[in-house]
Amino acid sequence: MDYDILFEPYKIGDVKLKNRVVMAPMNMVYSDADGYNSEQWLAWYAARAKGGFGLIITDATVVNPHTWRGSDHLNTHLFTDERYGRRLGEMADNIHAFGAKVFIQLSPGFGRQGHASAAAPHLAAGAPSPIPMRIDLRNLNKGWEKQLKRLAPKLVKDLGGLDTIRAMNDAQYADLEKVLELVLLNEDPSLLKVWKGEVPRELSVDEIVFLEEKMAEMSYEALRYGFDGVELHSPHGYLIHEFLSSRSNKRTDAYGGSMENRARFLLNIIRKIRARIGPERVLGARFAGDELMPEGVTHEEMKQFVAMAAREGLTYISISQGCYENPAAFEPDGEGEMLKYAPGFKEASGLPVMTPTFKTPRAAAKALSDGVTDLVMLGRQAIADPFWPAKVKAGRVQDIVKCTRCNNCLMNLFEHKWLRCSVNPTAGFERYIPELWRVNAPAVKGKVEKFMAKAEGLPLI
Ligand SMILES: Cc1cc2nc3c(=O)[nH]c(=O)nc-3n(C[C@H](O)[C@H](O)[C@H](O)COP(=O)(O)O)c2cc1C
Repeated sequence: MDYDILFEPYKIGDVKLKNRVVMAPMNMVYSDADGYNSEQWLAWYAARAKGGFGLIITDATVVNPHTWRGSDHLNTHLFTDERYGRRLGEMADNIHAFGAKVFIQLSPGFGRQGHASAAAPHLAAGAPSPIPMRIDLRNLNKGWEKQLKRLAPKLVKDLGGLDTIRAMNDAQYADLEKVLELVLLNEDPSLLKVWKGEVPRELSVDEIVFLEEKMAEMSYEALRYGFDGVELHSPHGYLIHEFLSSRSNKRTDAYGGSMENRARFLLNIIRKIRARIGPERVLGARFAGDELMPEGVTHEEMKQFVAMAAREGLTYISISQGCYENPAAFEPDGEGEMLKYAPGFKEASGLPVMTPTFKTPRAAAKALSDGVTDLVMLGRQAIADPFWPAKVKAGRVQDIVKCTRCNNCLMNLFEHKWLRCSVNPTAGFERYIPELWRVNAPAVKGKVEKFMAKAEGLPLI
């Protein structure tokens, strides 16, 4: 099969991409202890830019400066002021050096999917309503099952495997939850918070307005520091999504109730960002095609939200699925799972869409040639092999290191570890391997070499 379509240039808003292969936003938690970017974080992205991705979307960057912004172990580099802005700018420069473009994914917070930070353990995370989230283990797929087996082999064996858990009725499952809760409370209380969220605090209207304004200010700063565009982190049951969903939003003020009210936070954010960055610059948003939970946002409802958001001036829509409560949905086992939402979102918004869950160039090229999606995104496959695009372009498809969908990467985050990959031993260690990421892209390489030639042979003085 001919994969040329993957390498066609593509224009998204005012940004020209060299190809149609995008790295999906993924949090690796490579930020330093204060939540800011580290050398490993820079190296991680530079390696993917060197590997040929036309566009990189960064991990969710929380702009909310409050200690309740989210869980510490998941929070990345807070984009507070110029001391940190210029470090984020360095990351954009590193990516540009390889001819790739970069959009920053900005989040007003994790809401009920986060929890109190270590700095203020008694201050609950802010959310639309004080409703905790809870993962139902009966929703786990094969990938998550592998992680459950890795973490608790004896428990899974004693229970007779995940199929036994899946077959449990509500009463049986409630009993299991009680046992599990006790085990986790003793063994890993932080992991317990990921599975069974803390009760969040209801945000006041002043706080909501503050977050809307912060998103606008930080979007402006991100572009000023060299990012090519901004993406709203509005999928997966995080704060913006929580406002959209009747499952998590029970407010009775202007931010709850009707669809129009539930969309207010999202739409105000878009309006305020547009007012700050103008009409031309790229502003995209990511949405779950379907929340896939009772009372959650359905695809039909989400299409209406997408249409409202598009009218306020979005440039593109990025597709995802599910929420923490349905983790199998946002990390599916197979390939191309989320393409089913692309036609609906395209039609509702009239905008280009980008879709993840690809592993093979065959499926990615087919999705583009069928016109289902405008750009293809690689998430876990980009962790497994940063050089996927370069290998495909060079006709070395057989050399691609394949993602096994084991979800080790994401589970590491929930275990409060840095991201690692079960098939790519360099993931998380890029900083020690200059060949993976040091700047030697042609444009820069030429200039640097010329400069160095003029310095060669100088005597030490
Ligand atoms: C380790 C990890 C971290 C992720 N972090 C984010 C994130 O910060 N923002 C986001 O929108 N999606 C995030 N995701 C979801 C991915 O962008 C993507 O939608 C998902 O992995 C499914 O696509 P894939 O099959 O191509 O991996 C993350 C996924 C993984 C595996």
